[in-house]
Parts: sequence; structure tokens; C-alpha cells
Amino acid sequence: MSAKPLISHAAASLSGQVRVPGDKSISHRALMFGALAIGQSSIEGLLEGEDVLRTAAAMRALGAEVTRGGDGRWTLFGRGVGGLAEPEDVLDMGNAGTGARLLMGLVASHPFTSVFTGDASLRSRPMRRVTEPLGRMGAGFVGRSGGRLPLAVIGTASPIPISYELPMPSAQVKSAVLLAGLNTPGTTTVIEREATRDHTELMLRGFGAKLTVEVLANGARAISLTGQPELTGQSIKVPADPSSAAFPVVAALLVAGSAITVQAVGTNPLRCGLYQTLLEMGADITYANARVEGGEPVADLLVRGSELKGVDVPPERAPSMIDEYPILAVAAAFAKGTTRMRGLAELRVKESDRLAAMARGLEAAGVTLEVEGDDLIVHGDGGLPEGGVSVPVNLDHRIAMSFLVMGMASRRPVQIDDASAIDTSFPGFTEMMNGLGAKISRVAE
Ligand code: S3P
Repeated sequence: MSAKPLISHAAASLSGQVRVPGDKSISHRALMFGALAIGQSSIEGLLEGEDVLRTAAAMRALGAEVTRGGDGRWTLFGRGVGGLAEPEDVLDMGNAGTGARLLMGLVASHPFTSVFTGDASLRSRPMRRVTEPLGRMGAGFVGRSGGRLPLAVIGTASPIPISYELPMPSAQVKSAVLLAGLNTPGTTTVIEREATRDHTELMLRGFGAKLTVEVLANGARAISLTGQPELTGQSIKVPADPSSAAFPVVAALLVAGSAITVQAVGTNPLRCGLYQTLLEMGADITYANARVEGGEPVADLLVRGSELKGVDVPPERAPSMIDEYPILAVAAAFAKGTTRMRGLAELRVKESDRLAAMARGLEAAGVTLEVEGDDLIVHGDGGLPEGGVSVPVNLDHRIAMSFLVMGMASRRPVQIDDASAIDTSFPGFTEMMNGLGAKISRVAE
């Protein structure tokens, strides 16, 4: 595929109402659980981004019936827990860490072998964090050095339930173990010291699994799943993704005179760290029409251009805003004062090393910052950063969108070398932002 460079020029002001695509985390899980349920499931508002389409294809390869109706509604007929079939070919998960890690868990407790691969970004990401606990459950793995993809999962016919304490806060690892626990007799338990997104727990319960969450004396959460449940087909409505909403929201805050509405954004508290931080920075964001849609809380966000101030973002907030640090770092560059983002170790193992990518790109755009260990410290003076850079995005959608937002309010335009990764999570991003008044365009080759 040829690279798609884009350039973002300063915008006058942003206005209008938008609805960003469906939540990526919830979309992956809806397809996986629908493929395991007995009977029909239907999904409204599924994110039709590359990552999720890879999961849909993988569920088909594992034997589920997955179709998209003309109205955009997806229908699944599942195979029942334990009923997945051996895929005939390699499962290519593209750029999707969530798709790859959750599915590795799912197939680990099925008696067949499946082979996973992905793009250059996914092939460079650590997989030991899932193969280690899944190995304890009885699965075998053959992968590249460092436990990287391509990797074969040799599923076990007699999985063993485990109790596993997560060594890092990761909803993907938690979910991989719980999904392996679905086809495992007995109780599988995951203990997390810091709460991570709980979409797996909420949705598994919705499909009929028996799952309990106990808060331990030390504040950790023990999530226990009773194996081999019968899951029943469900109707799922996917909320708009708060991680995608972050881009128009921050853009509207930074471009003076803006006033936009972002509709039906998921407000699950375990996903909302960015919004809490922006409010602390002085952002003018109002939550309107708070309601519950399809079992998840949502609200319309009314956002106005704001003067932001620097804040200290505590490390314990990281799990609830892990994907939002790149765009927060951009907001921090426009704020008055220092923003210290602490405890970002996990940011180094995302679609790219996001800590390094943000530090390099922002510095090149004239922003004063430091990286101290796993902390990113951005010094803003309340004025507009210089911009005028071209940033390599290394197949990372959130790095790409963050720098395009930066260009909307910087003195000089900001360019990215390749926008193709944006389609993994936010198809239609450029058109939507331009519809609000942004000036993003193709770069003539
Ligand atoms: C996700 C969990 C997070 C997040 C990713 C989606 C999920 O990853 O970064 O975009 O859907 O479970 P980690 O579990 O590695 O923190």
C-alpha cells in the first residue's frame, strides 16, 4: 500500500455536531461473544474500522456466521462455547493488538492449532504477557524471538483453570485469560491491582456468563468466571468511542472560538481519564443528555474553545486514559504551565512507542518538554506552538490523528507521512474533521 501523507493547516474555528464511530474495544468483544453464543446476535453501531473487520474475518475463519446487513447492522450465529473450528489459514489480525490478544486467549482452550500474524507494528509487540498465563492453562506456543508474531497457538483439549494476578494493568491480558476461561471447567480468576476497562466483564454477563467481581482487602479486584457457561445471542448497541471522540474534542478546545457537539460518547468511568484531566485543565466541556444505551453510559459532549492550564496527571489514572496520552500531550503543548504525565510505561508497547513518538514530534514542532523515566513533562506558555514539521507515524493511528489536531491550531502546518493507519480505528476522520472546519488535505507527491 502506498503511503498517504496529509497536511493540517490552522483552522478558523470549528463548529457543528458529529457522531464518531463505534467503540473499538466493545466492537471486538461483541463479535467474539456473538460468535460463541447460541442463536442470533445483532450489533448496531459496530466500528467498521480495519482492526474490527479483521476480528470479524477471524470469527468467520473460526466457524461463526457473521454478516453485515445493508442497514449497517451486523448479524452473527455463534458456535456455542467450546465450539470454534480450526481455521484453515493463518489469522492475520492486521494492526490490532486487542483482536490478536483476546483471540489468542479464546483459541488457547480449544483443541486445535491456529497461527496468528499481523502488520509490522503488531509483529513487533510483546505477546509473552498473554502466552505466559495461557501456557499455565495448558496451551503451547511457537513464536518468534521475544514471543512475537507470527505465532502458533497450540490449544489444549483439557485446559486448567488458574488464578492469575496481572503483572501490568492491561485489559487485553485480563480478557485473554478470561476468554480462555470460558471453555475451561471450574473457575478462572484474574486479579488486577488497578482497575482496567471492564467491557469484557459487563458484556460476558450480558450474554449470560456467571462472573463475579470481588474487591480485596488491598483494593485489588478479583474477577472470577465460571467456565463453560451457555451464552445466549444478544442485541448490542455500540456507543461512540470516547478514545476517538478525544480528537474532535481536543481540536475544539484548542481552536479559538470553536463550539461543537460530539454525540452519544461512551462515558464508562474506566475510560474517562482524559475528560477528567481536561476538565482539571480548565476545558469547557459539558455532558448533556446522560443516558444508558445498550448497557453502557453515554452522553453528548458540548465543547467550546478554552484556555487550558498545565496539571499533574497521576500515574493511577493511566489505565483509564492509556490511549489518550498522545492527544493529551498535544493539549498540554497549548496549555499555560507544566503538565506532568506520570507512569506511562505501557505507552511504550502500543502500536508504536508512543512516549518516544510524542516527545520527538512535539519537540520538533517547537514544544519544550522532558522525558524522565516513564514520565512525559510538557511545558506550555499558553501561546501557540510553532508546528511546521513532518512527523513519521509508524503505523500508529493515534499518533497520526494527534499531530493532525496539532496542526489545526499551531502557527505553521503539521504534516504526517502516512494517514492509512487512521482507518484502523476512525474511518472518515479527515472528512469529519474537515466538516467541522478543519483544513486537512492530501500532500501532492
Ligand atoms: C484495550 C486495552 C488497552 C488499550 C487498547 C484496547 C482493550 O490495551 O490500549 O487500545 O480493548 O482491551 P492494554 O490492555 O494493553 O492496556
